Amino acid sequence: MSMQLMLVARAHGYDTNPMAGYDKDRIAEVFHLDKERFQPVMLLSIGKASKEGYPSYRLPVDTIATWA
Ligand SMILES: Cc1cc2nc3c(=O)[nH]c(=O)nc-3n(C[C@H](O)[C@H](O)[C@H](O)COP(=O)(O)O)c2cc1C
Repeated sequence: MSMQLMLVARAHGYDTNPMAGYDKDRIAEVFHLDKERFQPVMLLSIGKASKEGYPSYRLPVDTIATWA
């Protein structure tokens, strides 16, 4: 679902950034959400990038996964 949202945002000219490293105990409170109802999974920022993106490196899938 997050990936779809990121792709749709991009298609409409917005940039996104997924984050997992945030204070999950406080996020509901900060966004005025019901802590008992919503379980934090991932934080996704959406906006217009202030700087151009840059290329970065990812290990090839064959290096990090084996297929049985
Ligand atoms: C599910 C998910 C969670 C992420 N969480 C974090 C995060 O908590 N902190 C962070 O610095 N980058 C996080 N990232 C990576 C950033 O979104 C971003 O891709 C990365 O900072 C880009 O750096 P790089 O391409 O130069 O390696 C996460 C990526 C994914 C897909």
